[in-house]
Amino acid sequence: MLNEPIPFDPAHDLDALAASGALGGNVALYRQPRGPDLLRRAAPLEDWCALRMRHGVWPYARLLSGPPGPLATVEGDGLAAAQGINFASQDYLSLAAHPRVLDAAMRVLAECGPHSAGSAILLGNSRYSAALEQELATLLRCQHAVLFPTGWGAAFGAVTSLVHSADHVLIDTLAHASLRQGAAAATRNVAAFRHLDCDHLRELLAGIRAVDANGAILVVTEGLFSMDADSPDLPLMQYLCREYGATLLVDVAHDLGAMGPGGAGVIGAQGMLGKIDIVMGAFSKTFASNGGFVACNERSVRRQLQLFAGPHMFSNALSPVQAATVLECLRIVTAPEGEQLRADLMRNAVELRALLQEEGLRCLGEASPIVPLLLGSEAATRIAGMLLAREQVFVNPMEFPGVPLGAARLRLQLMARHTPAQIRRAATLLGTAARRALAAPRPLLRRGAAA
Ligand SMILES: Cc1ncc(COP(=O)(O)O)c(C=O)c1O
Repeated sequence: MLNEPIPFDPAHDLDALAASGALGGNVALYRQPRGPDLLRRAAPLEDWCALRMRHGVWPYARLLSGPPGPLATVEGDGLAAAQGINFASQDYLSLAAHPRVLDAAMRVLAECGPHSAGSAILLGNSRYSAALEQELATLLRCQHAVLFPTGWGAAFGAVTSLVHSADHVLIDTLAHASLRQGAAAATRNVAAFRHLDCDHLRELLAGIRAVDANGAILVVTEGLFSMDADSPDLPLMQYLCREYGATLLVDVAHDLGAMGPGGAGVIGAQGMLGKIDIVMGAFSKTFASNGGFVACNERSVRRQLQLFAGPHMFSNALSPVQAATVLECLRIVTAPEGEQLRADLMRNAVELRALLQEEGLRCLGEASPIVPLLLGSEAATRIAGMLLAREQVFVNPMEFPGVPLGAARLRLQLMARHTPAQIRRAATLLGTAARRALAAPRPLLRRGAAA
């Protein structure tokens, strides 16, 4: 049973909200505060966040009670804990609540205790992590897989351990921060190609090779982009990399397990299993655990990752419980049950996108576990997110730095176990909230934005 919607509080009336200034500003304005006092110079950022919090439009760092299921109990935005329909968690195949996954985690907790004994290069490995590396490599048809304590660490570690200052990185302009920050830390020779644009990529590759025959070039993209729900042409990208002597890295954090035949993600769906130079991913979206991996075919690349990727070498390894959790998820993902869960997830995605279109709303990308609803204006996105939270529909309103300025959106992440009734109810409420937010009188939005 859902709780009763919280009546709209006059204190949150839209005019009052705009007048408060809580709809204006953005994180970019506060990113690099100036002045010698490192401890106090960020005070204006804190004031701005506090203002948004007071007015219920700071939908971040909320508290979740219990598991991250399709119905979840969430507290935040100045609202008391309430149970609602949850599109703000990452558990695409609903494996975090799967009895076999819970059982595996409990068994290994009892057997090995709660933590890993050290970095993977020391005594942090276990028979569960060894089996996981082996089974991941098999799924991806790669020779090797190297584990990392987080997906972030896998991305950052892969780029920084393989690329050095004389090399080049060409990266999709919308690639995840972990990849972009890895590129920036590895070399100054970083260029972004337009999102999914292989002609632009070819132009940049040719430009580099015209002046530098010796530097290595790493080309970086994602299987399924986490804010836009779209995918690159991987066969063409890998072909271009071969043509120009470059190496392709694909981050499959959001699609591996949740999409593609046998759970092989977009790489599998595009017939590229075993043909991509380097594949990296995260366990946090489909495999019910923190953690990540990098898969490759060369033994020497594996060694380079093990010895020079900081998050692998200098951070405690995945715990045995985490490794066993992911391993059990992987076994479900690759079994017929995984196929059924992916079919349920995709049914939800197709249904929600169709219903939102009927509501007159624009979803970005293709049917996938991610449904991004582009609103554009940060103010409208804040209003819509607040209205939805009051109706106990939890979504993630995305603003800069998650997405570019002026491209704010509501991001919904679906699960296999969302029910058709939850999808229908959410679509209606999303339609109402987005229309109301977008129709807020222009001066209201402008006034807020100028504050
Ligand atoms: C595309 C992509 N790569 C890497 C990561 C990092 O993974 P994790 O959060 O599991 O560390 C994320 C997570 O947001 C992601 O979306």
